This record gives sequence, C-alpha cells and structure tokens, in this order.
Amino acid sequence: MKANITLHKEFSIGETDKRLYGSFIEHLGRAVYTGIYEPGHPKADSEGFRNDVAALVKELDVSVIRYPGGNFVSGYNWEDGTGPKELRPVRLDLAWATKESNSFGTNEFAAWTKKVNAEMMMAVNLGTRGPQEARNFVEYCNFPGGTYWSDLRRKHGVNDPHRIKLWCLGNEMDGPWQICGRTAEEYGRIALEAAKVMKWTDPSIELVACGSSHMRMPTFGDWEKTVLEHVYDHADYVSLHMYLANHENDIPNFLGRSLEMDNFIKTVAGICDLVKVKKNSRKTVNLSFDEWNVWYHSNNADRKIEKWSEAPPLLEDIYTMADALAAGCLLITLLKNADRVKIACLAQLVNVIAPVMTEKSGSAWRQTIFYPFMDASGFGRGTALRCPVTVDKYDSREFCDVPYIEAAGVHNREKNEINIFTVNRNLGEAVNLDAQIAGFGNISLVEHRALYNNDLQACNSASEEKVKPKVLSGGRCENRSGSAFLEIALPPASWNLVRLKIL
Ligand code: AHR
Repeated sequence: MKANITLHKEFSIGETDKRLYGSFIEHLGRAVYTGIYEPGHPKADSEGFRNDVAALVKELDVSVIRYPGGNFVSGYNWEDGTGPKELRPVRLDLAWATKESNSFGTNEFAAWTKKVNAEMMMAVNLGTRGPQEARNFVEYCNFPGGTYWSDLRRKHGVNDPHRIKLWCLGNEMDGPWQICGRTAEEYGRIALEAAKVMKWTDPSIELVACGSSHMRMPTFGDWEKTVLEHVYDHADYVSLHMYLANHENDIPNFLGRSLEMDNFIKTVAGICDLVKVKKNSRKTVNLSFDEWNVWYHSNNADRKIEKWSEAPPLLEDIYTMADALAAGCLLITLLKNADRVKIACLAQLVNVIAPVMTEKSGSAWRQTIFYPFMDASGFGRGTALRCPVTVDKYDSREFCDVPYIEAAGVHNREKNEINIFTVNRNLGEAVNLDAQIAGFGNISLVEHRALYNNDLQACNSASEEKVKPKVLSGGRCENRSGSAFLEIALPPASWNLVRLKIL
C-alpha cells in the first residue's frame, strides 16, 4: 500500500503546550503505595520514593501530573494527608472500596514531582465538599505565610509555597458513579463559587471545569453548555476524558476510535466557542484532555478484589502491541488538535492503567504503551504542522473512512528538527510512505524507529520486553528544488517515529 503526506513550514496548527505530555497519579490501587512510594524498598530514597520508578517516569519526560484523583478526590479530605504521619487518619475510600492510610499526601506528592521534574495539577473535592475547603487548600499550598493555612504548611515543614498553577474543579461530576455527583446546573453553580474564592485566594492559578466523563454520556453536550454558561468567565479549560476498550478483539475498529476522540475534541471546542459568543467574551476556553488511555483488560480481575483492602492491585491492565497502536493514534490526534488541547494526561502513570509497572519489593518495568508516549513526549514539542494524508481508507464496525495511516508532524525550531509520528493501521501490509517536506530548505534523515510485533497480543512483563522500538534502515531523504522528499516503509501494524534534521 502507498501513502503520501505533505508538510510545509508555514502550514502550522499551533504551538504544542508542554503540558500535552502530562499524566496522572490517583490514590487508587498501587499507583501510590508500592508504585511511586514504597518505604523500605531496596531502591527507595530516604523519603520512600522508589528511584527505579522515578527513573522510568523521567524517561517519559512527563510535564504535568494530575493528583489525587479521579473518583477518589470526590470523597477526599486533603487535610488528612498533611502533618505528622502517625496522626493521619485511616479512611474508607468509597470510590474504590479500599482503605486509605493517608501516609502519602500533598507535601509528599510535591516532593515527588520535584524529583521527577514535573509540574503539579491538583484537583479539589466538589463531591462531599465545596468552595470553603477548596480555597483553604489553595491557601495551604500557595500562600507564602502569615495566615492560618499557610502557616500550617510551614509547621508541616514546607516553608516555601508549592505555587501550584493548575487546579481541577472536581472530577467527572456528571457520572452517577461519582461520590456526590451533580446535575449540570448544580455543578455549574458550585464550580463557579469555588472558582471565585480559589482565584481570589491566588489570582495566578488556572482552573479546569469538568466536562463530560466521556462522549457517550447521555448528557454530553448539554452538560458542557450548561456548566460553561455558569463558569465561563472563571474557568480556563474544560476537561475531556476517554478510555478505549477492545473486548471484542476487533482491532480495526479499536484503532478507529481515535476518530471519535477527534470528533469529541472538535465538538467540545465548538461548545466552548458557542458560549463565548453568547457571552460576548474575548476569552477562549481551551481543552484539558486530562484522562485518556486504553482500559479494559483488568475489568474482570477487579471484580474479584476484596473490599476495603489497602493498595490492592486494581486496574492493572497489561497492555498489548495493539494497545500501543491505539495509544499512538490517540497521541497523534492530540497533536493534530494542539491549537485547542493545551493539557493532556495519560491516565494513569504507575501500576493503574499505566505505562510503568512495579512489583512490590521487586522491579519496575515498561509496558508497550510506554514507547509511543516516550517518543511523542521526547520529540513532539514545537510547532504542530498540518499533515494531510492521502491513503486508502476502511470501514469498521463503528467507523467509516478510517485512513490506514494516522500521521502528525512537529517542527522544533530550537533544535532544528522535524519529527513525524505515524501509525500504520494496516494489520497485514507495510505502507510505503512518501513525504514531501517544503519550506525548510535541505533536510536529512536522522532516524526511523518503529514499534511492531507480528503478534498483536504480545505484552511486556517484569522479565521480558517483547515489544520495544527497533531502529530501521532503508529510509531515504532527497533534497530537490527546495523541497525534501522522504521515502519510508512503515511495517504492518506499527507505531513510527521519523526524525529529520534541518541542514
Ligand atoms: O482513571 C481511572 C478513573 O477513571 C478515574 O478515577 C475517573 O476519573 C475515571 O472514571
């Protein structure tokens, strides 16, 4: 099969926000306990943070990390996770039917994000709690000192404020599963009042209002419109969440679901702009895609977990080669919408539907989905370029006209690089990709590396990495009459990174 793409220096989508390569740590399963934090582990530092896990997180170069939930946040008292550890209460977490020791909390999370060079994205509880507790939390975290909450932080050993810039106004408040979920009207009102007092406490913060939990929610669309009518002037972003499942093992359809993500993004952006017009506002509300991933492998195992256990192995999906392709299609879709999606979080980061897995008291290892994220985060920063593709299309069970190739290009001015990301959705055939790259002058091919495996069900484990990138030779780049012409063969069912240098 043949495919063509064209990139031109002047045809840009927009700058990629570094927060496009974010992730998420929730108090859920083994994300925190025996994940990022395991005092007594041979590789733990003096604060109990696992150095082996931190090293893998740094390989991913995760820019921003959302915390502490997720569904967990809607029943969370943030104060429980502060102060002397021996005084912290053990609570029942109703979101995941587990016990929470609170031995890890806000200040520990702040110290850990420093260790992995990431920014914090904090969520407040708008389920069982409201504006008062949310503004106290902002004061505790961000106010320098001389007030009750900021001095309490100092008493807890943290002299300098955390200066957390990004705050989520609750989590998935439209979901019937949410602890104290709300109607759009109820949530819009409380989100507005919380937003006001949080920004009055620290005007430098940015706020994310909850959009729909996913695009197939019955209230999707109406929810965003109603919520934004309340909170538009005070919110900076609206959230989007999406998880892919493949229970039917219908891979062509599974890989087509990134088209739904694209549609989701464009629809929510349209609703934001509708409210903007109705409010006669000059401000644009952008998008925070703060939960995206594949999630289904662990569904059955999770039903067997005993209730009220502490840090049980919940949501421990073991990802396949096919899942890595799906994750790659989602990453490319985020890049193609870089003009509106400013924040995105791969949900989640460690053990819980995660690229990084750990064994309790043992090793840490990379899942298949680790690699597309690592490539995009490492090489997808700069100006996202329009990348029209000419290739055959297929129809799947739910989607029409799925192109066999998904592709995005990013121009990094500082590094004089152009990087192309592509997924070949053709499961049986290689695709010969011809790219014309114009407006940059002469270009050379630095590297083509690809992730593929004949067995689309192949997984990694603590003892074996069956799915890892391979460097491919055979690509060619020629410079003729001011343009570069690239020829690359994309293996069947593959994720590809093509790195080019501007000469
Ligand atoms: O990431 C797992 C869960 O998925 C989160 O807690 C929730 O926000 C979503 O439903």
